[in-house]
Amino acid sequence: MTPKGTAWRTHRCGELRAAHARQRVRLGGWVHRRRDLGGLVFVDLRDRAGLVQVAFGPGWSPPDVLARAGGLGSETVVVVEGEVVARPPDMRNSELATGDVEVHAAQLEILGPAVTPAIPVARAKGEDLAAEELRLKYRHLDLRRPEMQANLMLRHRLLQRARETLSDLEFLEIETPILTKPTPEGARDYLVPSRLHAGEFYALPQSPQIYKQLLMVCGFDRYFQIARCFRDEDLRYDRQPEFTQIDLEASFVGQEDVLGFVEAVLVALWEEAGHVIGRPFPRLTHREAMERYGTDKPDQRYDLAIADWTAQVRPLGVPFFQSVMKDGSRVRGLAVKGGGALSRKDVDQLAEAAKQLGGAGLAWVKRQGEQISGSVGKHFTAETLGRLGVGDGDAALMTVGPDRVTSPVLDKVRQEVIRRLAPRPATAHAFCWVVEFPLFEPDPATGRPVFAHHPFTSPHPEDVAKLEGDPLACRALHYDAVYNGHELGSGSIRITDPAVQRRVFAHLGLTPAEAEARFGFLLAALAAGAPPHGGFAIGFDRVTMLLAGAASLRDVIAFPKTTAARALFEGAPAPAGPADLATLHIEVKR
Ligand code: AMO
Repeated sequence: MTPKGTAWRTHRCGELRAAHARQRVRLGGWVHRRRDLGGLVFVDLRDRAGLVQVAFGPGWSPPDVLARAGGLGSETVVVVEGEVVARPPDMRNSELATGDVEVHAAQLEILGPAVTPAIPVARAKGEDLAAEELRLKYRHLDLRRPEMQANLMLRHRLLQRARETLSDLEFLEIETPILTKPTPEGARDYLVPSRLHAGEFYALPQSPQIYKQLLMVCGFDRYFQIARCFRDEDLRYDRQPEFTQIDLEASFVGQEDVLGFVEAVLVALWEEAGHVIGRPFPRLTHREAMERYGTDKPDQRYDLAIADWTAQVRPLGVPFFQSVMKDGSRVRGLAVKGGGALSRKDVDQLAEAAKQLGGAGLAWVKRQGEQISGSVGKHFTAETLGRLGVGDGDAALMTVGPDRVTSPVLDKVRQEVIRRLAPRPATAHAFCWVVEFPLFEPDPATGRPVFAHHPFTSPHPEDVAKLEGDPLACRALHYDAVYNGHELGSGSIRITDPAVQRRVFAHLGLTPAEAEARFGFLLAALAAGAPPHGGFAIGFDRVTMLLAGAASLRDVIAFPKTTAARALFEGAPAPAGPADLATLHIEVKR
């Protein structure tokens, strides 16, 4: 028996190699495929390590074993015993890690008969996956697919690596409660009714934010947790109602220290997945990110940046720009290298996408030799275009308006241009830090300042005085880690002065009494001797999705929810019976 051997088996199917030839092995696994070839039966037997071909034949399998092998249905669980045999050179299968050998089975036990699978586990080359809804409904089959097994095994390795890296940096793994008081992270809470206290509710944590700060006040110095978080928000491919963070916090640190810790973890995770990443990561301020990319999570693999062309374009008297040019408006655009290759249809679709974001629309100019065309082409000369960085074969795409409108439009246009022209990325792994986020942002509906991250983020020391007079101009000690256009995580240096914390709560519209009722325990802790501290949370599912090359978080979470927040396999949420509701003092309005 190898160390992996158990009561039922000596090896895993997928680990057999030429070196195992002539050994007698027992394997347990699922029947992936069966082929019958004139008296011979071949079964691809599968376990988490992979597939191996098991052959049943008259020379080595007793007649009853051969007969039962011929009747094996897909996904049946069997144990086989036999000899590992080297395949003749012309019979080797280079697509299979075990392709140099096969197992000649002398014994066969059927341990777990299987009904016909509702969705296929084994697929022919090029065969599409079953619809996602079916894959989620029959998750017990979908998770058997080698791709899903690989994703969850990668997830395991990444988790262990994160733990190891943080442990080496002297972070302590400490668990915080799941039944909590609401933690504001900008989403709705999931509430859990209390049986013992009628009409009272626990909230599931949106993150361990307050608890980790309390741990700093308690002197634990460096904390981490692989933390499950719960947020009742609109879901997308990169959001789940329950998800996992690599959450950390440290005391007596400044921003540089925290960025260093997080870089160490990210570099280790990428290394675990086989990529060598350099550090430190480049940085840009939130203001620079919005100026050059129109977004706080720029994809910096491509060196296409937004430029301010107001000064160059104003004298040209272009009606499209003139009509909407108001105070605070700017003309901003993208000089697209090789943009001459964008078809008329491409440009129309880009303009349509721009319009949908509420912009003035998109003006465009193409330059082909001496010929200049486009919606505002007649106003431009080769010389003006040259000054904008638009050369022969290039295009200029521009829009006008206040930044809050043009930034999202140009972000979208930039992404679409990259998708359509598919330029070669300058680098495969573009990490960056976005720092100096604003402390507040205007609520789109009311214009009132609402917190941009969470209300425990420290204002930038140079901007504390602006808290009351000009809150929207107040920068925060808040930083995000961005990778290829994805936000991997967020963090900040925290407020430790209870007076400043009260001022921030007041901004968010909380009266002193409300602030006391919701966060009195934190204010009391901060007043009891709080060290300077700060931290970060890495979105672990997102990291795994990106490293696995998966299209959705659902492909790296064993039992995820749909975009409608349903668990299709086990069937949650589900109605509660009248007796349970009564115990919880709850009446449901239908
Ligand atoms: P934040 O809310 O930015 O910060 O979350 C940190 C990271 O968690 C991931 N994330 C999600 N992943 C999947 N599904 C979701 N619904 C979801 N929401 C967030 C993202 C995000 O960048 N307490 C702070 C951290 C801190 O200040 O230390 C926090 O939770 O990758």
